[in-house]
Amino acid sequence: MSLNKAPKNNVFYRNQNWHYPRIKKGEGIYLIGENGKKYIDGCSGSAVANIGHGNREVAEFVKEHIERIAFTHLSRWTVDSIEKCAERIVNWCPEGLNHVYFVSGGSEATEAAIKMARQYFVERDGHKTSKWKVISKWNSYHGATMGSLSMTGSVGRRKIYDPLLANFPKINQFYHYRNPWGVETLEETSTLAAKELEREILRHGPENIAAFISEPVIGSAAPGVYPEKVYFRMVREICDKYDVLFIMDEVMAGTGRTGKKMASDHFEAKPDILAIAKGLSSGYTPIGAAVCTDEIFNTIMVEGTGNFIHGHTYAGNPLSCGIADKVMEIIERESYIENCAIQGEYLLKKLEGLYNYPIVGDIRGKGLMVGIEFVKEQDIKEPFEVSENVKGKITNNGLEEGLVVYPGGGSVDGVRGDHILLAPPINITKEEVDLLYAKLDRSVKKTTEEVLGQKVY
Ligand SMILES: Cc1ncc(COP(=O)(O)O)c(C=O)c1O
Repeated sequence: MSLNKAPKNNVFYRNQNWHYPRIKKGEGIYLIGENGKKYIDGCSGSAVANIGHGNREVAEFVKEHIERIAFTHLSRWTVDSIEKCAERIVNWCPEGLNHVYFVSGGSEATEAAIKMARQYFVERDGHKTSKWKVISKWNSYHGATMGSLSMTGSVGRRKIYDPLLANFPKINQFYHYRNPWGVETLEETSTLAAKELEREILRHGPENIAAFISEPVIGSAAPGVYPEKVYFRMVREICDKYDVLFIMDEVMAGTGRTGKKMASDHFEAKPDILAIAKGLSSGYTPIGAAVCTDEIFNTIMVEGTGNFIHGHTYAGNPLSCGIADKVMEIIERESYIENCAIQGEYLLKKLEGLYNYPIVGDIRGKGLMVGIEFVKEQDIKEPFEVSENVKGKITNNGLEEGLVVYPGGGSVDGVRGDHILLAPPINITKEEVDLLYAKLDRSVKKTTEEVLGQKVY
């Protein structure tokens, strides 16, 4: 056993090669380490801590709620906070999504969504239905459980588990910067990407396709990438034409992160099922949901068997629902979504300055969900080799500066491609954005110097 891989304590962490600094507390946009070092949480964990850390109002609410009631099983009881939370979620969702199925996180939300889609067709057409496949995209992440990983297109995350996964079809993403069609405009990329959906449905036979899943703004697989409105308009038309359900994965982009209540709102998108988690509770408790239309709900629950054959012990626990409702109430009262739109635009404008560094290839995003992609050469978009560990360098240089960014890779061919996600708390102030930018600028400068082996001015 190599020494640096020896157990450090009893925790089975994700990465034994990483030194995990111990965090003592969180305060607003900051994480504070045991040694007193302050980090700007520039990615809210993974786009989770939307209202920032250490919120007193939430803490006091949690104490009261636990003293009143912490847990009841959703199969037997209902509690006011569960109902209130569902009502508020529906008010935040695009029109027509009226029924909230609670789960405990993002993977569970997309997993529940595909089981809901499958059961919808079974209830409607009987067990003879052959509809089960879910079309998804390369350069996507929908979760780590077997169903959600089967939809995930990130090759690196799938490889080991491939024999266990359902054989779901994959099409190209609306990833304009690296679009495979060689077209000039985002409009063309969006149209061609949507046309792939129709082709794929026909290739497999519409009678075998239950659903199509997409993120509105891409998260970890190609952060900040989004299409023109035409994409989701065409997706809706194609799904209707071939009797396929449209699932929108807003686990990262939803609940305020992009400067709208849901990112679907930017595109006037109308999904049949919408998956949310992460910012829904700002990380104050694990919670997620799959929200569906009357058509799906009625088919399964009113005209059908009345039983959705799915469920988790902690799903819809009153404490988590109460916390999510409180977080959403704070976001509404304090106008944090409006702030997110304003600060997101300001941040994106400032980030243009980073193009002065030759390793910065593309900057894109909506609200405070922003991606930066790094390249060897700006003109030809050549990615770095994995061995150069550019995403690791930028992460470490950020941490040294006191800034946390969310690194990712593999967007080019499943292996190469370095990028970071910036997603600070959506209540960040303009002055804090300035500070975040200054730290990021120094981190990118240092990384550029390390990679090029020369000073940059
Ligand atoms: C778009 C998207 N879907 C699903 C998931 C899975 O969510 P979780 O990690 O809460 O299971 C994530 C997590 O990053 C995500 O970004």
